[in-house]
Amino acid sequence: MARILGVGNATLDIVNVVDNYPHEDQEVRASSQHLHRGGNVANTLVVLSQLGHDCAWAGTLADERDAAIIREDLTEHGVDLSAVHSVAQGKVPTSYISLSRLNGSRTIVHYRDLPEYSAADFARIDLNLFDWLHFEGRNIEQIRLMLARARREQPNLLCSLEVEKVREGIESLFPLVDVLMFSKDYVRRQGWHDAEHFLAAMKKQQLNADLTCTWGSKGAYALSRTGEQLHEPAFAPKMVVDTLGAGDVFNAGLIAQLVMGHNLDIALIEASRLAGKKCGLYGLKRLVE
Ligand code: FRU
Repeated sequence: MARILGVGNATLDIVNVVDNYPHEDQEVRASSQHLHRGGNVANTLVVLSQLGHDCAWAGTLADERDAAIIREDLTEHGVDLSAVHSVAQGKVPTSYISLSRLNGSRTIVHYRDLPEYSAADFARIDLNLFDWLHFEGRNIEQIRLMLARARREQPNLLCSLEVEKVREGIESLFPLVDVLMFSKDYVRRQGWHDAEHFLAAMKKQQLNADLTCTWGSKGAYALSRTGEQLHEPAFAPKMVVDTLGAGDVFNAGLIAQLVMGHNLDIALIEASRLAGKKCGLYGLKRLVE
Protein backbone atom coordinates (compact mmCIF):
# COMPACT_ATOMS: atom_id res chain seq x y z
CA MET A 1 0.00 0.00 0.00
CA ALA A 2 1.15 3.54 -0.67
CA ARG A 3 1.69 6.69 1.36
CA ILE A 4 -0.18 9.68 -0.03
CA LEU A 5 -0.11 13.34 0.96
CA GLY A 6 -3.01 15.57 -0.10
CA VAL A 7 -2.64 19.37 -0.12
CA GLY A 8 -5.84 21.42 -0.22
CA ASN A 9 -9.13 22.02 1.51
CA ALA A 10 -11.23 20.40 4.15
CA THR A 11 -14.63 21.98 4.65
CA LEU A 12 -17.73 21.77 6.76
CA ASP A 13 -20.63 20.74 4.52
CA ILE A 14 -24.17 21.60 5.62
CA VAL A 15 -26.34 19.57 3.29
CA ASN A 16 -30.07 20.21 2.94
CA VAL A 17 -31.82 17.43 1.04
CA VAL A 18 -34.64 18.96 -1.02
CA ASP A 19 -37.17 17.33 -3.37
CA ASN A 20 -35.93 19.48 -6.24
CA TYR A 21 -33.82 22.58 -6.61
CA PRO A 22 -35.80 25.69 -5.56
CA HIS A 23 -36.37 28.84 -7.64
CA GLU A 24 -34.94 32.13 -6.52
CA ASP A 25 -37.02 33.71 -3.73
CA GLN A 26 -38.89 30.44 -3.10
CA GLU A 27 -39.20 29.00 0.40
CA VAL A 28 -38.89 25.22 0.61
CA ARG A 29 -38.56 22.71 3.39
CA ALA A 30 -35.66 20.27 3.44
CA SER A 31 -36.57 16.63 4.02
CA SER A 32 -33.33 16.10 5.98
CA GLN A 33 -30.15 17.89 6.94
CA HIS A 34 -26.65 16.48 7.36
CA LEU A 35 -23.51 18.10 8.71
CA HIS A 36 -20.27 16.51 7.67
CA ARG A 37 -16.72 17.08 6.62
CA GLY A 38 -16.10 17.82 2.94
CA GLY A 39 -13.48 19.50 0.75
CA ASN A 40 -11.98 18.12 -2.44
CA VAL A 41 -8.64 16.91 -1.19
CA ALA A 42 -10.03 15.74 2.13
CA ASN A 43 -12.72 13.73 0.28
CA THR A 44 -10.09 12.18 -1.97
CA LEU A 45 -7.93 11.21 1.01
CA VAL A 46 -10.81 9.63 2.90
CA VAL A 47 -11.56 7.41 -0.08
CA LEU A 48 -7.90 6.52 -0.60
CA SER A 49 -7.75 5.60 3.03
CA GLN A 50 -10.80 3.32 2.62
CA LEU A 51 -8.90 1.72 -0.26
CA GLY A 52 -6.14 0.83 2.19
CA HIS A 53 -3.59 3.60 1.65
CA ASP A 54 -1.78 5.62 4.33
CA CYS A 55 -2.93 9.19 3.93
CA ALA A 56 -1.93 12.54 5.35
CA TRP A 57 -3.60 15.92 4.93
CA ALA A 58 -1.80 19.25 4.53
CA GLY A 59 -4.24 22.14 4.92
CA THR A 60 -5.36 24.89 7.24
CA LEU A 61 -7.95 24.90 9.99
CA ALA A 62 -9.28 27.71 12.15
CA ASP A 63 -9.19 27.23 15.87
CA GLU A 64 -12.98 27.21 16.23
CA ARG A 65 -15.80 24.83 17.13
CA ASP A 66 -16.51 23.50 13.63
CA ALA A 67 -12.90 22.42 13.13
CA ALA A 68 -13.60 19.54 15.51
CA ILE A 69 -16.03 17.96 13.02
CA ILE A 70 -13.31 18.01 10.38
CA ARG A 71 -10.58 16.69 12.66
CA GLU A 72 -12.82 13.92 14.02
CA ASP A 73 -13.86 12.66 10.62
CA LEU A 74 -10.35 12.65 9.17
CA THR A 75 -8.98 10.96 12.28
CA GLU A 76 -11.75 8.36 12.12
CA HIS A 77 -10.59 7.60 8.56
CA GLY A 78 -6.99 7.26 9.71
CA VAL A 79 -5.82 10.41 7.89
CA ASP A 80 -2.70 11.83 9.54
CA LEU A 81 -3.12 15.46 10.63
CA SER A 82 0.39 16.33 11.75
CA ALA A 83 1.00 18.67 8.77
CA VAL A 84 -2.15 20.74 9.49
CA HIS A 85 -1.63 24.46 10.08
CA SER A 86 -4.10 25.78 12.64
CA VAL A 87 -4.79 29.52 12.90
CA ALA A 88 -6.34 31.34 15.85
CA GLN A 89 -8.73 33.54 13.83
CA GLY A 90 -11.18 32.76 11.08
CA LYS A 91 -13.78 30.19 10.12
CA VAL A 92 -13.33 26.79 8.52
CA PRO A 93 -14.50 26.86 4.89
CA THR A 94 -18.20 26.14 4.98
CA SER A 95 -20.44 24.96 2.15
CA TYR A 96 -24.20 25.38 2.24
CA ILE A 97 -25.44 22.70 -0.11
CA SER A 98 -28.85 21.96 -1.61
CA LEU A 99 -28.93 18.32 -2.67
CA SER A 100 -31.81 17.59 -5.03
CA ARG A 101 -33.58 14.25 -4.64
CA LEU A 102 -34.86 14.58 -8.18
CA ASN A 103 -31.48 14.01 -9.85
CA GLY A 104 -28.79 14.09 -7.15
CA SER A 105 -27.54 17.52 -8.25
CA ARG A 106 -25.70 19.54 -5.66
CA THR A 107 -25.79 23.34 -5.59
CA ILE A 108 -23.16 24.92 -3.38
CA VAL A 109 -22.84 28.31 -1.70
CA HIS A 110 -19.39 28.46 -0.18
CA TYR A 111 -17.96 30.76 2.48
CA ARG A 112 -14.36 30.91 3.67
CA ASP A 113 -12.38 33.12 5.99
CA LEU A 114 -9.11 31.26 6.37
CA PRO A 115 -5.59 31.67 5.01
CA GLU A 116 -4.47 29.12 2.45
CA TYR A 117 -1.83 26.50 3.23
CA SER A 118 1.54 28.03 2.39
CA ALA A 119 4.81 26.82 0.94
CA ALA A 120 6.38 27.67 4.32
CA ASP A 121 3.98 25.20 6.01
CA PHE A 122 4.75 22.64 3.32
CA ALA A 123 8.51 23.11 3.83
CA ARG A 124 8.19 21.45 7.24
CA ILE A 125 6.86 18.19 5.78
CA ASP A 126 9.32 15.33 5.32
CA LEU A 127 8.73 14.29 1.71
CA ASN A 128 10.64 11.04 2.22
CA LEU A 129 7.51 9.75 3.92
CA PHE A 130 5.43 9.76 0.72
CA ASP A 131 4.99 7.92 -2.56
CA TRP A 132 2.51 10.39 -4.06
CA LEU A 133 1.56 14.05 -3.62
CA HIS A 134 -1.89 15.22 -4.68
CA PHE A 135 -2.68 18.94 -4.96
CA GLU A 136 -5.96 20.80 -5.25
CA GLY A 137 -5.51 23.43 -7.97
CA ARG A 138 -5.79 26.61 -5.87
CA ASN A 139 -3.41 29.08 -4.23
CA ILE A 140 -1.29 28.89 -7.36
CA GLU A 141 1.84 30.84 -6.41
CA GLN A 142 2.33 28.80 -3.24
CA ILE A 143 1.64 25.47 -4.93
CA ARG A 144 4.23 26.33 -7.56
CA LEU A 145 6.79 26.71 -4.76
CA MET A 146 5.66 23.43 -3.17
CA LEU A 147 5.98 21.58 -6.47
CA ALA A 148 9.36 23.16 -7.12
CA ARG A 149 10.56 21.89 -3.76
CA ALA A 150 9.19 18.41 -4.40
CA ARG A 151 10.84 18.29 -7.84
CA ARG A 152 14.15 19.54 -6.47
CA GLU A 153 14.32 17.19 -3.46
CA GLN A 154 12.46 14.15 -4.74
CA PRO A 155 12.45 14.14 -8.53
CA ASN A 156 10.80 10.70 -8.65
CA LEU A 157 7.96 11.46 -6.27
CA LEU A 158 4.73 11.29 -8.27
CA CYS A 159 2.57 14.41 -8.21
CA SER A 160 -1.00 14.98 -9.37
CA LEU A 161 -3.01 18.18 -9.73
CA GLU A 162 -6.78 18.56 -9.67
CA VAL A 163 -7.86 21.28 -12.10
CA GLU A 164 -11.48 21.87 -11.17
CA LYS A 165 -11.84 25.64 -11.36
CA VAL A 166 -10.42 28.34 -13.57
CA ARG A 167 -7.79 30.17 -11.51
CA GLU A 168 -5.32 32.72 -12.73
CA GLY A 169 -1.99 31.13 -13.53
CA ILE A 170 -3.10 27.53 -12.88
CA GLU A 171 -1.74 26.53 -16.29
CA SER A 172 1.79 27.33 -15.09
CA LEU A 173 1.55 24.30 -12.79
CA PHE A 174 0.77 21.84 -15.59
CA PRO A 175 4.39 21.13 -16.61
CA LEU A 176 5.30 20.37 -13.00
CA VAL A 177 3.09 17.32 -12.41
CA ASP A 178 2.72 13.71 -13.58
CA VAL A 179 -1.08 13.53 -13.66
CA LEU A 180 -3.60 16.27 -14.43
CA MET A 181 -7.26 15.75 -13.55
CA PHE A 182 -9.49 18.22 -15.38
CA SER A 183 -13.15 18.90 -14.66
CA LYS A 184 -15.79 19.42 -17.32
CA ASP A 185 -16.43 22.86 -15.86
CA TYR A 186 -12.82 23.94 -16.32
CA VAL A 187 -12.71 22.62 -19.88
CA ARG A 188 -15.96 24.33 -20.89
CA ARG A 189 -14.88 27.61 -19.40
CA GLN A 190 -11.80 27.41 -21.60
CA GLY A 191 -14.19 27.38 -24.55
CA TRP A 192 -14.03 23.66 -25.41
CA HIS A 193 -17.16 21.59 -26.01
CA ASP A 194 -15.73 18.12 -25.51
CA ALA A 195 -12.98 16.43 -23.55
CA GLU A 196 -11.22 14.67 -26.43
CA HIS A 197 -10.33 17.81 -28.37
CA PHE A 198 -9.34 19.61 -25.21
CA LEU A 199 -7.01 16.81 -24.09
CA ALA A 200 -5.45 16.60 -27.54
CA ALA A 201 -4.79 20.36 -27.45
CA MET A 202 -3.23 20.02 -24.00
CA LYS A 203 -0.99 17.25 -25.22
CA LYS A 204 0.37 19.52 -27.95
CA GLN A 205 1.80 21.70 -25.21
CA GLN A 206 4.45 19.02 -24.65
CA LEU A 207 3.18 18.10 -21.20
CA ASN A 208 4.86 15.00 -19.84
CA ALA A 209 1.78 13.96 -17.90
CA ASP A 210 -1.20 11.62 -18.01
CA LEU A 211 -4.32 13.72 -18.60
CA THR A 212 -7.85 12.89 -17.49
CA CYS A 213 -11.18 14.66 -17.77
CA THR A 214 -14.54 13.74 -16.25
CA TRP A 215 -17.63 14.57 -18.28
CA GLY A 216 -20.69 13.70 -16.15
CA SER A 217 -23.05 11.17 -17.73
CA LYS A 218 -20.75 10.86 -20.78
CA GLY A 219 -18.11 9.27 -18.60
CA ALA A 220 -14.40 9.96 -18.33
CA TYR A 221 -11.69 10.58 -20.90
CA ALA A 222 -7.93 10.28 -20.72
CA LEU A 223 -4.87 10.81 -22.83
CA SER A 224 -1.78 9.03 -21.64
CA ARG A 225 1.66 10.59 -21.74
CA THR A 226 2.46 8.15 -24.54
CA GLY A 227 -0.48 9.41 -26.60
CA GLU A 228 -3.08 6.68 -25.94
CA GLN A 229 -6.65 8.06 -26.08
CA LEU A 230 -9.09 6.47 -23.65
CA HIS A 231 -12.78 6.76 -22.88
CA GLU A 232 -14.78 5.02 -20.18
CA PRO A 233 -18.58 5.38 -20.19
CA ALA A 234 -20.17 6.48 -16.92
CA PHE A 235 -21.00 3.62 -14.56
CA ALA A 236 -24.59 4.47 -13.82
CA PRO A 237 -25.93 3.33 -10.44
CA LYS A 238 -29.58 2.17 -10.23
CA MET A 239 -30.50 5.64 -9.08
CA VAL A 240 -28.37 8.79 -8.85
CA VAL A 241 -28.95 10.14 -5.34
CA ASP A 242 -25.87 12.21 -4.48
CA THR A 243 -23.23 13.61 -6.83
CA LEU A 244 -21.49 15.69 -4.14
CA GLY A 245 -17.80 14.81 -4.25
CA ALA A 246 -18.08 12.40 -7.21
CA GLY A 247 -15.09 14.08 -8.88
CA ASP A 248 -13.05 13.75 -5.69
CA VAL A 249 -13.89 10.04 -5.57
CA PHE A 250 -12.87 9.67 -9.22
CA ASN A 251 -9.49 11.24 -8.40
CA ALA A 252 -9.04 8.84 -5.48
CA GLY A 253 -9.82 5.85 -7.73
CA LEU A 254 -7.30 7.07 -10.26
CA ILE A 255 -4.49 7.69 -7.77
CA ALA A 256 -5.14 4.36 -6.04
CA GLN A 257 -4.47 2.48 -9.27
CA LEU A 258 -1.63 4.59 -10.64
CA VAL A 259 0.31 4.63 -7.38
CA MET A 260 0.28 0.83 -7.40
CA GLY A 261 1.81 0.87 -10.88
CA HIS A 262 -1.31 0.02 -12.89
CA ASN A 263 -1.78 1.49 -16.35
CA LEU A 264 -3.95 4.48 -17.09
CA ASP A 265 -6.61 2.38 -18.85
CA ILE A 266 -7.15 0.24 -15.75
CA ALA A 267 -7.06 3.33 -13.54
CA LEU A 268 -9.72 5.03 -15.68
CA ILE A 269 -12.05 2.03 -15.41
CA GLU A 270 -11.64 1.74 -11.65
CA ALA A 271 -12.00 5.48 -11.06
CA SER A 272 -15.18 5.61 -13.15
CA ARG A 273 -16.62 2.58 -11.39
CA LEU A 274 -15.97 4.09 -7.97
CA ALA A 275 -17.35 7.51 -8.92
CA GLY A 276 -20.46 5.86 -10.39
CA LYS A 277 -20.98 3.81 -7.25
CA LYS A 278 -20.64 6.97 -5.18
CA CYS A 279 -23.45 8.69 -7.12
CA GLY A 280 -25.79 5.91 -6.00
CA LEU A 281 -24.93 6.40 -2.31
CA TYR A 282 -25.27 9.29 0.13
CA GLY A 283 -21.92 10.56 1.36
CA LEU A 284 -18.57 8.80 1.13
CA LYS A 285 -19.03 5.95 3.55
CA ARG A 286 -19.58 2.35 2.41
CA LEU A 287 -17.83 3.05 -0.89
CA VAL A 288 -15.45 0.18 -0.48
CA GLU A 289 -17.20 -3.02 0.61
C1 FRU B 1 -17.24 18.36 -3.14
C2 FRU B 1 -16.73 19.44 -2.23
C3 FRU B 1 -17.55 19.62 -0.97
C4 FRU B 1 -17.16 21.00 -0.59
C5 FRU B 1 -17.02 21.70 -1.91
C6 FRU B 1 -15.93 22.71 -1.93
O1 FRU B 1 -16.41 18.21 -4.24
O2 FRU B 1 -15.38 19.18 -1.86
O3 FRU B 1 -17.32 18.62 -0.01
O4 FRU B 1 -18.05 21.63 0.22
O5 FRU B 1 -16.77 20.70 -2.87
O6 FRU B 1 -15.79 23.33 -3.17
